[in-house]
Amino acid sequence: EKGTYPHFMLKEIDEQPFVMRKIIQEYQDDHDQIKLDEDIRQAMADCDRVYIIAAGTSYHAGLIGKEFLEKIAQVPTEVHIASEFSYNMPLLSEKPLFVFISQSGETADLRSVLVEINKLGHPALTITNVPGSTLSREADYTLNLFAGPEIAVASTKAYTAQMAVLAILAVDTARAKGLTLDFDPLKELAIVGNAMETLCDQKDQLEQVARDYLSTTRNCFFIGRGLDYFVGLEGALKLKEISYIQAEGFAGGELKHGTIALIEDGTPVIALATQDHVNSSIRSNVQEVVTRGANACIISPEELYREGDAFVIPTVHPLLTPLVSVLPLQIISYYAALHRDCDVDKPRNLAKSVTVE
Ligand code: M6R
Repeated sequence: EKGTYPHFMLKEIDEQPFVMRKIIQEYQDDHDQIKLDEDIRQAMADCDRVYIIAAGTSYHAGLIGKEFLEKIAQVPTEVHIASEFSYNMPLLSEKPLFVFISQSGETADLRSVLVEINKLGHPALTITNVPGSTLSREADYTLNLFAGPEIAVASTKAYTAQMAVLAILAVDTARAKGLTLDFDPLKELAIVGNAMETLCDQKDQLEQVARDYLSTTRNCFFIGRGLDYFVGLEGALKLKEISYIQAEGFAGGELKHGTIALIEDGTPVIALATQDHVNSSIRSNVQEVVTRGANACIISPEELYREGDAFVIPTVHPLLTPLVSVLPLQIISYYAALHRDCDVDKPRNLAKSVTVE
């Protein structure tokens, strides 16, 4: 039930700090270590490459998951859109492990890949919010997101839960491989939960950002580099699906290869500038669009804040920043849709779970 909330989406955005705490609790043993099914640990150790298969928002979580698996656990990882993979299967490695990411566990595009994979006899792990779902039953292993029911068509808490569980899986794999790590993921996720809470308390400020940048626009661009680029893709999907503003996410450096032609006087460009090592590059991309008239909205963490940035997010572990930087984008999208009188929870032409191919 929605309780006092006007929309499920807003309620589910607000639930994210609690979901983080629930995930920490469920994936922690009595000695504060990661608790994970031994079979999954073994499957991760045995594979020579992970193939992530997903759609929509879950695909965007997969893009971040690849960074976790490669950077933390040194496991080569590919991420594929399920509906493309079905008929355009890449050359597989000798010992692949397939990871299906799906909030609902019922997405038909993923299921048809899983059926193929099962025929080929490759192991499959499903990461889902619905453990009894089709994708969970038909895969060898399941990891639960523990996000609680997600009702709004626009996925919010499942996305951050997916990234949290992928981070835990990556750290567990790294430990199993004997790699040394300089951070404790469960502690870092607790910090993420607190940061999310801070952001959930800043809705008025974010509503104003939505008014300032999106009230009359027909389109909007999201730019970022590295992890920020992937979060920008998710921000664009969120905005377009509920507010019907045409929105696209781009890698900062890619703009000058074509898209910059679309920048006009007043075009909103939401730039994520949360990553230290690419900070000066993304800021020069912002300069490029501002020179052409863009209305740039920069989101930065405390330590990278510069005068004129539109919104500041709390600092968390750099790899986990996507779990935090997406919240302002979710909230801005919510208000942009609300201001346009859109049906926030049930946008046109969309279903919560896409059970047709
Ligand atoms: O249930 P799934 O995670 O498999 O769903 C995948 C997509 O259909 C879903 O993420 C969709 O993109 C959302 N409406 C995005 O908010």
